[in-house]
Amino acid sequence: MERLTSPARLMIVSDLDHTMVDHHDPENLSLLRFNSLWEHAYRHDSLLVFSTGRSPTLYKELRKEKPLLTPDVTIMSVGTEITYGNSMVPDHGWVDALNHKWDLGVVKEETGKFSELTLQAETEQRPHKVSFYVDKSKAEEVIKELSQRLEKRGLDVKIIYSGGMDLDILPQGAGKGQALAYLLKKLKSEGKLPVNTLACGDSGNDAELFSIPDVYGVMVSNAQEELLKWHAENAKDNPKVIHAKERCAGGIIQAIGEFKLGPNLSPRDVSDFLECKVENANPGHDVVKFFLFYERWRRGEVENSEAYAASLKASCQPGGVFVHPSGAEKSLVDTIGELRKHHGDKQGKKFRVWVDQVLATETAPGTWMVKLDKWEQSGDERIGCTTTVKFTAKEGEGLVWEHVEQTWSEESKLKDDSSWII
Ligand code: GLC
Ligand code: MG
Repeated sequence: MERLTSPARLMIVSDLDHTMVDHHDPENLSLLRFNSLWEHAYRHDSLLVFSTGRSPTLYKELRKEKPLLTPDVTIMSVGTEITYGNSMVPDHGWVDALNHKWDLGVVKEETGKFSELTLQAETEQRPHKVSFYVDKSKAEEVIKELSQRLEKRGLDVKIIYSGGMDLDILPQGAGKGQALAYLLKKLKSEGKLPVNTLACGDSGNDAELFSIPDVYGVMVSNAQEELLKWHAENAKDNPKVIHAKERCAGGIIQAIGEFKLGPNLSPRDVSDFLECKVENANPGHDVVKFFLFYERWRRGEVENSEAYAASLKASCQPGGVFVHPSGAEKSLVDTIGELRKHHGDKQGKKFRVWVDQVLATETAPGTWMVKLDKWEQSGDERIGCTTTVKFTAKEGEGLVWEHVEQTWSEESKLKDDSSWII
């Protein structure tokens, strides 16, 4: 969070499963639309927070399966674990606060008496979260009975039902809503309370997010029955919370538009980049657009026209250098020229490109360094490169790519020098 020196323009706090991630869309289209919108228009001055029920283990698994961006803050295990930044530094202060009237042993002992409860995987049992599966028809009764028993044992817990099957037991002070309130308080104390905050969710454990004061909320169109019921009973008259018409990340984009929180046109929804060239003299924008163009080019979704080839060439500095992740140095203009050979080579195949953590710094007047992670999914393989691009502003021509350098990302399993173009 130190990345930002002033209040975030927008802080998005989003659940992952069935909210940011659509498990019914193998192409991940709405997630990819969100990603390019975020990197294009928000990354530089806004905060991205993921708030998931998943433990760190299952969260990391999801990151491998889906094209998720890197968030600034990761809240896991239903608001019981908060970490910051790429290296996921834990917030120990938060954990300490959760020990109040909480005793893992007692929770396990009492829950063991309920035959209706089936324990979830070991990875999902956390220091401040005990999780089970329970049938929808039994949930209400079990929750009532269990609450009474735990109260009698001197504990103060919160029992949450999500997705019509998951039952989580947490300390009363935990949960996604409390974690968000804690984060907002922390940001406020640093003088960095976000200008706007948007909470996004689909199921029971997200309900709390929508009761935090001054926070906008979107329940995605595919929200679960238990969340819609909670909303009807508790937040129906709150104009700051909407039920989107669109599924998952599409609903988040819709909410950004409806609440007027900033730009909501994803570059993925713009078909011709040549048309929106001049107005945007921001190097971060250029990078997002270029790699999207690159995806479309290889998928054969843009015409192999002279106009495109000329426009690409014109945006490269003659004599500019490209350092390939293999270490080989090439001419930038030649590399772009070579792209022509690859037009449509991924047509009809599973091929997607996205960029993550696009950050631009003006190093001297008219000179910019843009750092980003570029990822490429081809079939079932995913490869990524940490990329730096040096741009210079040229009179009347906008920004020119002067130097590009790539190194394989640590998470990149396959470091395939031969198939990587740029
Ligand atoms: C995630 C967690 C699970 C939890 C559920 C609902 O699926 O893995 O443990 O019960 O979210 O919060
Ligand atoms: Mg969910």
